[in-house]
Amino acid sequence: MTSSIHPEIEAAVKSFFLEEEKLAQVVERMTKELKMGLAKETHPRAAIKCFVTYVQDLPTGKERGKFLALDLGGSSFRVVLVTLHSESSYDIESKSFVFPSLLMSGTGIELFDYMAECLAQFCQQFGLEHEGLPLGFTFSFPCRQQGLSKGVLVAWTKGFHVEGVVGHNVVEMLQDAILRRGDLNVNVVALINDTVGTLLSTAYFNRNCRIGLILGTGTNACYVEKTVNAECFEGYQTSTRPYMVINTEWGAFGDNGVLEFVRTNYDRVVDKVTPNPGKQTFEKCIGGMYMGELVRLILMDLMAKDVIFRGEHSEKLQQRWSFDTSYISEIESDAPGEYRNCNKVLHYLGIMGNQESDRLGLRYICEAITSRSAKLCACGLVTLINKMNMNEVAIAVDGSVYRYHPKYHDVLEKYMKKLLKPGAKFELVVAEDGSGRGAALAAAATYRRGTEYKFSIIK
Ligand code: BGC
Repeated sequence: MTSSIHPEIEAAVKSFFLEEEKLAQVVERMTKELKMGLAKETHPRAAIKCFVTYVQDLPTGKERGKFLALDLGGSSFRVVLVTLHSESSYDIESKSFVFPSLLMSGTGIELFDYMAECLAQFCQQFGLEHEGLPLGFTFSFPCRQQGLSKGVLVAWTKGFHVEGVVGHNVVEMLQDAILRRGDLNVNVVALINDTVGTLLSTAYFNRNCRIGLILGTGTNACYVEKTVNAECFEGYQTSTRPYMVINTEWGAFGDNGVLEFVRTNYDRVVDKVTPNPGKQTFEKCIGGMYMGELVRLILMDLMAKDVIFRGEHSEKLQQRWSFDTSYISEIESDAPGEYRNCNKVLHYLGIMGNQESDRLGLRYICEAITSRSAKLCACGLVTLINKMNMNEVAIAVDGSVYRYHPKYHDVLEKYMKKLLKPGAKFELVVAEDGSGRGAALAAAATYRRGTEYKFSIIK
């Protein structure tokens, strides 16, 4: 007998499968919000902030030199050494450090001292302490930049709530922490968002790349805008450089209520237990930090109603955030009719007694969460492609959700095609070493500006 999805499971997740009309609405609303973020007059009240990045040129592939990069994004922290040779060739050495979760809710001094300590260890290992190397800092949180090497943190996201950093220039905080040590000669010369790193590192090889997308713990995208439209950039009317990379910070889309028509009660429950309730609405529908928790809440609800895993009790599942988003990727990786990964997850959760219909139901819940995430992301990308009015564009993508989910790419691509104007072509390119190489390229641009290393103007 082949099992089918229990009608109550179907009903519980129905609103996660967004219809195309709703997607078109999302694109329309997002386009409006994006324009509000760009325009000086409406920027202060815009949800999508569209921060100017001061990155006005993309790499040529001819940049050279030795650069350090620090990457603080979500769950990991990395130090990277990039040696750019000529003609798009480079060497990279990197080291990931365990990021003590306590630091996510400690003080700014502790956080930056820890990063400086890791940097020092790395430099000692490679004998770089006294070289005076330039460093690009990939800091993946919303910052209001006042230059390529100056940015004030606007708010923490992705579960961070470190005291004494919001409202401060994070480049200065990092440089001060380096100086406090007294044993390191490193100059922090560029601050970039991870989306910008992703864009720069892919543009190094791919001349069509105009969007950098992150689909990981959080989500965000940057894109190439005409400088004349980047009204929050002082000198936007007179700048001789025609383009400006914009960090949209699209995760905050919907913070003013315009996304309520795609949200569910489960989203509202997740939102309440985050350190930033009411913020990052779009991100909380899409990002890896939240997808697993949505599945968990739905499961808990259905188990309480005895619809799934009847008679089973899971201590583990009672705990918030215990359903890791990677389980979604694993469960959806099983071939139809097979439940190898699914069984592993259930075993881990301590749900031993289950039937095929339960496993089918669990998989269906995962698919619902994935589907909404990928469709909303498609809406975001379509908004940006329409805004640039380009017929052919490459999009650099990075992040664990996109990389490790077996079908995310396909759903994303399918709905982008449905929503885009006919004839518009795009290519999704997985970015390699985005935050490391990207930060190095940004550092290369500032450090050598005016010399042979200057980036080419975006054509
Ligand atoms: C941050 C962005 C970042 C994104 C992906 C969001 O929470 O606000 O700055 O680009 O996560 O890491």
